[in-house]
Amino acid sequence: MTGGHGGMGKAICKELGKTSAIVLAGRNPAKLETAKAELDELGVESDLCKTDIADRAQVQALADYAASLGSVKQIIHTSGVSPSDTGTENIIKINAVGAVNMVEAFYPVLAGDGVMINFASVAAYTMPQTDEWTEAFEAWNEPDFYDRLLALAGEPEDEEGEFFRAGLAYAMSKKFVIYFTQKNVVRFAQKHCRILSISPGCYLTPMHQKLIDNQPETAENQLELIPAGRWGHPCEMGALTAFLCSSGAGYVNGVDILAAGGQNAGIFVPQI
Ligand SMILES: NC(=O)c1ccc[n+]([C@@H]2O[C@H](COP(=O)([O-])OP(=O)(O)OC[C@H]3O[C@@H](n4cnc5c(N)ncnc54)[C@H](OP(=O)(O)O)[C@@H]3O)[C@@H](O)[C@H]2O)c1
Repeated sequence: MTGGHGGMGKAICKELGKTSAIVLAGRNPAKLETAKAELDELGVESDLCKTDIADRAQVQALADYAASLGSVKQIIHTSGVSPSDTGTENIIKINAVGAVNMVEAFYPVLAGDGVMINFASVAAYTMPQTDEWTEAFEAWNEPDFYDRLLALAGEPEDEEGEFFRAGLAYAMSKKFVIYFTQKNVVRFAQKHCRILSISPGCYLTPMHQKLIDNQPETAENQLELIPAGRWGHPCEMGALTAFLCSSGAGYVNGVDILAAGGQNAGIFVPQI
């Protein structure tokens, strides 16, 4: 589980921890320890592994560590950053390159009947995937993959321009997560495993709280676009993820699950 100490990650750990031991991976040891203490109190067995998902060698070490502990049945990759956290370069490195690192390192160790779930975003639906983007996405295994995505985000600008550049990079990186997940469905199925992605809408987590705090007007506008009329609760994401990992969802494969309170349909489909 990457980002297991994050808003949605922790809620997912609480659900999956009812039946499985969990390896919590993240780059901040203090936050990992805090999350572990919380899970200990709930009786959830967990191990920690300091990992920066943007670093291929560290992700490989995480996969090796998880495999050394037992059968790896579920890989939940929630780690990610948004323009509220950081800039364009990190967004591409962590969200897009990080997704490649996770899939490549964990594909060999995922046990039969296992499932991998990668976290994308409703933001991925806000922009069409151009031919240029697809061409860059297809270079996922090339040494210049990161540079290609960075070039598509455009040149660095002034502060306001930079925020929009980071927003574009975020949407592109999450579109890549969906694309790359679906690009792996046949090879995962060959080992009787599933791979899918979840695109959350706006969930009340530390990531979204930063947006509410720093850009209250943007947050208010977002809320108006959500037919459900409220933010998502991390515990709803916990329950959804647990269902998608279960045998009841055994035929749900190679898709993106958009869990956004109706946001997308409300915006893009003329409403009655
Ligand atoms: N919240 C929303 O409304 C929303 C909407 C759409 C999509 N999403 C996506 O859903 C996922 C979970 O979001 P969340 O709201 O739960 O966010 P969150 O609370 O900010 O958690 C994100 C987690 O990712 C970790 N992380 C960031 N960079 C990392 C790196 N290089 N290596 C390892 N871990 C790293 C963070 O750890 P640190 O504390 O070390 O930074 C944190 O634990 C993210 O991928 C996000 O993009 C969220």
